[in-house]
Amino acid sequence: MLLLPLLLEATLLRLASGSHHPFYNGFYYNHIMNDKGNGQEKVVYFNGAKLVVETPKDPVYSSSGANVTLPCHYHYEPDLEAKRKIRIKWSKLRDDYTKEQDVLVAIGKTYVAFGDFRGRAHLHQAGRREASLVVSDVRLQDDGKYRCEVIDGLEDESNVVDLRLQGVVFPYQPPHGQYRLNFHEAERVCQEQGAVLATFNQLFQAWTEGLDWCNAGWLADGTVQYPIRLPRKPCGGLHLAPGIRSYGPRHRHLHRFDAFCFSSALRGEVFYLDRPAGMTLEEAKQSCQDAGAEIASVGQLYSAWKFLGLDRCDAGWLADGSVRYPIAKPRANCGPLEPGVRSYGFPSKGRFGVFCYKER
Ligand SMILES: *[C@@H]1O[C@H](CO)[C@@H](O)[C@H](O)[C@H]1NC(C)=O
Repeated sequence: MLLLPLLLEATLLRLASGSHHPFYNGFYYNHIMNDKGNGQEKVVYFNGAKLVVETPKDPVYSSSGANVTLPCHYHYEPDLEAKRKIRIKWSKLRDDYTKEQDVLVAIGKTYVAFGDFRGRAHLHQAGRREASLVVSDVRLQDDGKYRCEVIDGLEDESNVVDLRLQGVVFPYQPPHGQYRLNFHEAERVCQEQGAVLATFNQLFQAWTEGLDWCNAGWLADGTVQYPIRLPRKPCGGLHLAPGIRSYGPRHRHLHRFDAFCFSSALRGEVFYLDRPAGMTLEEAKQSCQDAGAEIASVGQLYSAWKFLGLDRCDAGWLADGSVRYPIAKPRANCGPLEPGVRSYGFPSKGRFGVFCYKER
């Protein structure tokens, strides 16, 4: 009479403190406290209810600096009226669904967030049987898949939410030329542009939207790839269909390529300034400051081009010393037939206008 509940309690304690039970036989034991009277009789029901965890099938979109809710709800089939003691665990996944990092664990109303989610990840339990995650001050690195896991005794069910950040992918080559960056340097040049290395999904999305780039670049997962829409000889050959060409994973220290960076939608505006005689880079920086702004980064120019339709057929300096111009509506004397950000590279001399960025 007493032995079974005690054994079960020991099992639950072990589950709560350690890792999950390695097997699941399709049923679980329902552990109910009967608090009538002093005897606190513990009754074990065998009921075979199934735990179901639901998340949205479509991606959840957000942008840098925003707050986002990743919805997750659970229920039992058939429904159980009793209040359940459950644990909730959120983790971030890699593209192959293996775990990248712990985000948050919760028991009842108590929860702990980990790593760079500390102070930014909260549990939202407004509804009955809700386990949604709120991430505040969203960062570019937050883009990706998240697993919502609900653990009830021996039952352990989960489902995945895909968080996508609105942003733009742009190829980046440093001033000293093509294929000069190892993985770590590629991470750094993107950071210097207020961006991060793009994920494969982001590059793929950019390809569907028209990105064609015949230089291979690092992605966030340490692979090297490039997007081709119009097959041609120097870009993987004519016999290959349009698509993302991959060199696969490369040595992060020894191998050198360009970078594909990802930068978020803007919260400010990008505008163009010029003087009749043009400006040096130093004069350009100064004139942005005089206008209460700062010289724009490459990422900001791409963002303004993509999200605000910035179109200017005049070349301007950017913060990294490159000279570019954004074309949303292609026309004669403004570069190729496709929309895009055109580049003059990094001129060592010459006088141009400037693109400035101002927070709204
Ligand atoms: C995000 O949430 C925090 C805390 O709840 C709040 O202070 C902040 O203003 C929110 N930010 C935005 C952009 O809504």
